[in-house]
Amino acid sequence: MGLIDSHAHLDLSEFNTDRDAVIKRARTEGVVSIVTIGIGLEECRAALQIAQQWPFVYAALGIHPHNAGRWSAQVRDFLEHAARQPKVVALGEIGLDFYRNRSSKEDQRRCFRDQIGLAKSLKLPVIIHDREAHRETLDIVREEHAGEYGGVFHCFSGDAALARKCIDLGFYISIPGTVTFRNASLLHEVVRAVPLEYLLIETDCPFLTPVPFRGKRNEPAYVRYVAEAIAALKQLPLEEVAYATTKNTKRLFRLSGDERITSP
Ligand code: NI
Repeated sequence: MGLIDSHAHLDLSEFNTDRDAVIKRARTEGVVSIVTIGIGLEECRAALQIAQQWPFVYAALGIHPHNAGRWSAQVRDFLEHAARQPKVVALGEIGLDFYRNRSSKEDQRRCFRDQIGLAKSLKLPVIIHDREAHRETLDIVREEHAGEYGGVFHCFSGDAALARKCIDLGFYISIPGTVTFRNASLLHEVVRAVPLEYLLIETDCPFLTPVPFRGKRNEPAYVRYVAEAIAALKQLPLEEVAYATTKNTKRLFRLSGDERITSP
């Protein structure tokens, strides 16, 4: 069985003492690839470095809405250059976060729209972060044609109707470790409603640790608990969930084996 963790933050300091061991453990426990996500300038540099070090680790680069206040022409230039590296498979995570509001809404909107434009000019898919901002995120995604080269709503937090709208705009829906929580009824409903061909799985590690490790640090090896929860909810064999989500992730990020297939 080969799983892909479509969203990890391997560069963060929670992994400073045992990063290599965490990455190796994922491989030995059936994770064939990991996409590690940069959320700011320094994090993007670190994510790219990790991806370049491991053949089966890929990077997505972007400025997270929390860091939108630091968006500038220089940051854009850095991203445009760095995203041309062969191990970079997407722009993200980008979007809106009206839950924590660590940047002003105006800065978030500008940073989001500019990065969608950059992704399209680079012909890259986008990884969308949407927290407490469903309506406006969807409006911007629609207006900017963000799904032109594909994309995913990571850590999906809406209902089944919203998932349908995202799929209609050309996006995948990514399911995090919270799906293992008994009280996550909204997410359970989404998993039951969305066909397997539109689902991705992720850890968002070191955050959102699934049961049975809830409360501890999360890591890519635990993505199997997400796959198991989906299999239980959909009453499907685990192998079928693994096969489909891996196929979807490879298609979205144009991964083939250990290499990215560059578009013709
Ligand atoms: Ni994340």
